[in-house]
Amino acid sequence: MIRPAELIERKRNGEELPADEISELILGYARGEIPDYQLAAFCMAVYFRGMTPAETYALTDAMIRSGRTLDLGAALGRKVVDKHSTGGVGDKTTIAVGPIVAACGVPVGKMSGRGLGHTGGTLDKLESIPGFSVDLSVDDFIGQVKEVGLAIVGQTDDLVPADKKLYGLRDVTGTVDILPLIASSIMSKKIAGGADAIVLDVKVGDGAFMKTLEDARALAETMLELGEQAGREVVCLLTDMDQPLGAAVGNSLEIAEARDTVRGEGPPDFTELVLDACARLLALSDLGIDEDEGRRRAEAAVGDGSALGVYERWIRAQGGDPDPEALPRAPVVLPVRAPRAGSVVRLGAIAVGMAALHLGAGRRTKEDAIDHSVGILCHVKRGESVADGDVLAEVHARDEASGDEAVAAVLAAYELGDEPPREHPILLDVVS
Ligand code: URA
Repeated sequence: MIRPAELIERKRNGEELPADEISELILGYARGEIPDYQLAAFCMAVYFRGMTPAETYALTDAMIRSGRTLDLGAALGRKVVDKHSTGGVGDKTTIAVGPIVAACGVPVGKMSGRGLGHTGGTLDKLESIPGFSVDLSVDDFIGQVKEVGLAIVGQTDDLVPADKKLYGLRDVTGTVDILPLIASSIMSKKIAGGADAIVLDVKVGDGAFMKTLEDARALAETMLELGEQAGREVVCLLTDMDQPLGAAVGNSLEIAEARDTVRGEGPPDFTELVLDACARLLALSDLGIDEDEGRRRAEAAVGDGSALGVYERWIRAQGGDPDPEALPRAPVVLPVRAPRAGSVVRLGAIAVGMAALHLGAGRRTKEDAIDHSVGILCHVKRGESVADGDVLAEVHARDEASGDEAVAAVLAAYELGDEPPREHPILLDVVS
């Protein structure tokens, strides 16, 4: 039997802990035998002392063993690919990638989470579609993946319950942005969910956990190693999160943008990320093709309308109305105008995310209700130029007062300068 207080002290003093003790700590916590305050202290000790690769693997393995695991591959008789993002502002990638990959003949069954922070998570975004249900039994989930090629549902409570509990605790104890804890949290869910091959989108910059390319690379390498130790193929894309992804930030606005992207009308940065992720997922799948061919097939599925067809069948299968006109709309729409001519040298992702949160698009606490209709459309992005008075962005608000506040906040997120217009690539690096 471990003594948690002694384990915390040893970690605090910089000792490497053996796998069986980490396992007992995590499983004891998941069973409710070890209190929150001891795990909070343990996480803070990890913040200061880090974890060795062996400790990180032991933590991940214990998290996986805290609940049930899924073998989606056996149920489908196919190699299963999955994608995951470390999270950012305006990140609706899964909602566009899923239908395109499925239209290329690779089934996608994904368990997603809710968001705490600026905007909702994938599930919250999907719930802005009238009628859409994210609660499917495991049998219905598998049945839908077989029939439609795509299902996105809420993570069941028995899949990595230790992470659910620990993530909630980390969220309120200043222990979220700790590399080994993020890596084990993400990889335990991907491995327990049954993915054979995983594309990880590691966000870098102002709106991400990892602020620098160096930190993002370290997180990517740790996740890659965890995946390989568990016998999974992993590719990590390091992508820009210094500004919001695409134009839309806010739940129903993001759904509309994801649908536009599936039919080839999305914003350039988001479209590029989506097609790149699709190409890599297809190359990892059992189709036996390389990335170039994956990219060609993804573009073809967008161009010929087959991806939109899958999108519509998927939304209907989960009870939703795929018509974009059915999405909730905010009653007040206000422009954010450029105060001068120039080019955008900065568009703060966090500032836009916080403005969306204040409009009601996200949650401050787990109990908060989300307003699916509100949000921000950033029409002009970094490197683009505008004339004095041009519309930079649009605020969608539930009333004039909150709208006016958001207009001021979004305006402050834009910095205009005199640099010549230039492109900012979305893909910064690949770790594989
Ligand atoms: N996403 C997760 O699932 N876990 C983390 O710890 C951070 C981001």
